[in-house]
Amino acid sequence: MRIDILSLFPAMFKGILESSILAIALEKKLVDIWLTDIRNFSYASHRNVDDRPYAGGPGMLLKPEPIFRAVESIPHNPEHPPLYILLTPQGEVFQQKTALELSQKEHLVLICGHYEGFDERIRLGLKPREISIGDYVLTGGEIPAMVLVDSIARLIPGVLGDIESTEHESFSNGLLEYPQYTRPPVFRGMEVPEILYSGHHKKIEEWKKQKALERTILRRPDLMKNAAQNSGENA
Ligand code: ADE
Repeated sequence: MRIDILSLFPAMFKGILESSILAIALEKKLVDIWLTDIRNFSYASHRNVDDRPYAGGPGMLLKPEPIFRAVESIPHNPEHPPLYILLTPQGEVFQQKTALELSQKEHLVLICGHYEGFDERIRLGLKPREISIGDYVLTGGEIPAMVLVDSIARLIPGVLGDIESTEHESFSNGLLEYPQYTRPPVFRGMEVPEILYSGHHKKIEEWKKQKALERTILRRPDLMKNAAQNSGENA
């Protein structure tokens, strides 16, 4: 999979692309990530890429020309045209199922906004999918793009060593994860539940399911509706 990121601050991505699992995925060429500085596509002498909105209003908007020029500079395979994604608080809210869907695409182009927003012709011309990472406003789309890249890349086959680890985690079955323990068996008086070292696989699975349900009902009752639907579909 190829991911292009268009940003005014490409240096912000250095940390996440050079650390941990993403760095390994890049090295193993399981994912190919390209950064494009939108400013390189400005026509203006001071490389500015924003302007005041017509008819007034607060702040500045990203101009269409540098965005279109940057997008058009990206090589792509005509058999797999890229999916353009605009990071914006106005978009659909990103979820685990969105990450799973996007992890199956050949080519994503993430466009990070800044300032008050985008000139509407960026939406009209590129027809991007618009994604928000939650109902709050950040200073730009870079952190949301990092969230997408991280959550998508880890779902690409081979990126995580243990394939099972994405199957049992929170959200993948619509529930939060059950509590987990490692050694020592007793820490500061807190004991690992006996069932977990009983060796009784069926009972352990039941315990995990029960604990995942309890935790979801307590912390995220809103997830229960989807979880009920999922279990209905699987039945
Ligand atoms: N840009 C600013 N805030 C954002 C958000 N919550 N999600 C996506 N892009 C954004």
